[in-house]
Amino acid sequence: MQVQQLTQFETGLSVSSPFYFGQGISDRLPEYLRRHSFDRCFLITSAKVLRLFGQTLLTTFERHSIRCQPVLIDDTEGHKNWSTLQNLCEELVARGATRDSLLLALGGGVVGNVVGLAAALIYRGIRFVEIPTTVTAQTDSTLSNKQAINGAQGKNQFGVYHAPLFIWADADYPRTEPLRQQAAGVVEGVKNVFITQSSVARAEKLVELWKSGEHFSQFLLELIESKRPIIAGDPSEKGSAISLEYGHTFGHAIEWLSRGRLLHGEAVSIGMCLAAELSHAMGHSSREFVEDHYRILGSRLGTPVHLPIELSPAQVYETMLHDNKRTQKGLRFLLLKSPGAFLNEDGDYSVAADRELVLKVLEQSRHRSNETEKLAG
Ligand SMILES: NC(=O)c1ccc[n+]([C@@H]2O[C@H](COP(=O)([O-])OP(=O)(O)OC[C@H]3O[C@@H](n4cnc5c(N)ncnc54)[C@H](O)[C@@H]3O)[C@@H](O)[C@H]2O)c1
Repeated sequence: MQVQQLTQFETGLSVSSPFYFGQGISDRLPEYLRRHSFDRCFLITSAKVLRLFGQTLLTTFERHSIRCQPVLIDDTEGHKNWSTLQNLCEELVARGATRDSLLLALGGGVVGNVVGLAAALIYRGIRFVEIPTTVTAQTDSTLSNKQAINGAQGKNQFGVYHAPLFIWADADYPRTEPLRQQAAGVVEGVKNVFITQSSVARAEKLVELWKSGEHFSQFLLELIESKRPIIAGDPSEKGSAISLEYGHTFGHAIEWLSRGRLLHGEAVSIGMCLAAELSHAMGHSSREFVEDHYRILGSRLGTPVHLPIELSPAQVYETMLHDNKRTQKGLRFLLLKSPGAFLNEDGDYSVAADRELVLKVLEQSRHRSNETEKLAG
């Protein structure tokens, strides 16, 4: 049979989202919303973030005659699941959401991911605006269009790419975030430097800038800038931007097994150190570069760097087999030879590793784990 291409549909689905950033800009949000036509808004957030910033936003909307109803969700990692997504979608439809409604996601990465996915599903796609309130959300998760929830087997297993109408990042918001959470957000910035620069110096500077507590919006901008060029070159993360997942194969499994007791960035911090150890054990990375990981993430930033004693290497390995980056090539790892230089033999930035060696690296890390790295809570 001859195959004829009859047509090729231009879906026009690829959109670009402006990222607005500034300090103390929340009063200006109505003006930017008004640039778009909509019937009503739903402000989706957690009870805590509603108290912190949501009520003030609702008052501002009222002043500008913008119809907006608050909708609360549980934004803990354990609730980033089908049940929260389903309840949210049903509630929005029941409360009168139409194709012309706007969803406003006010909160951290969990709220952004769940609302982004709900927006993609309701009536096959409605518009949403991200209003990130954490370091991670302002400098990492909103700089990608990936929306996902966790599954029964692991992190971020069900999701889509769905771009927000725009992102509205007020640098004042993440100031109220607990320091432990802020540090977890800085991890991704350290990772961005490690994967793109030939020296780790900029990562050390980022950490020092955060620790100084001064120039907070400058610090946020530097974090954003550490990711922006990577994602700009590959917005759907199908090519080189997969490198952003450095440390995440180990990290996602560890985060998943910790059942919410380790923050995303903390698990990625451990995952980066494990990736560095694995690369070294395979004869690729120098010991000095492995030590850079421990010094910058562990000693300077203060995030955990070893596998918590409670997690078994075999469990972590099993969980990694469900990693969302896994392809027909099986379990693969993103490994650096040196700062900015990935092992990239097959052009996909990932390599296979011997199971026994991976288990050995995990066991050694767990062995080094000390009291402070026991899972909190
Ligand atoms: N899509 C992506 O590319 C991407 C990238 C990175 C992380 N993520 C996801 O993001 C999630 C982590 O997000 P997160 O680190 O932003 O945290 P989070 O969304 O888990 O929020 C943590 C807690 O902080 C509270 N909070 C939010 N803003 C606050 C503020 N300003 N002050 C005080 N408390 C505040 C929240 O109510 C919540 O209880 C993970 O699920 C991760 O998988 C996604």
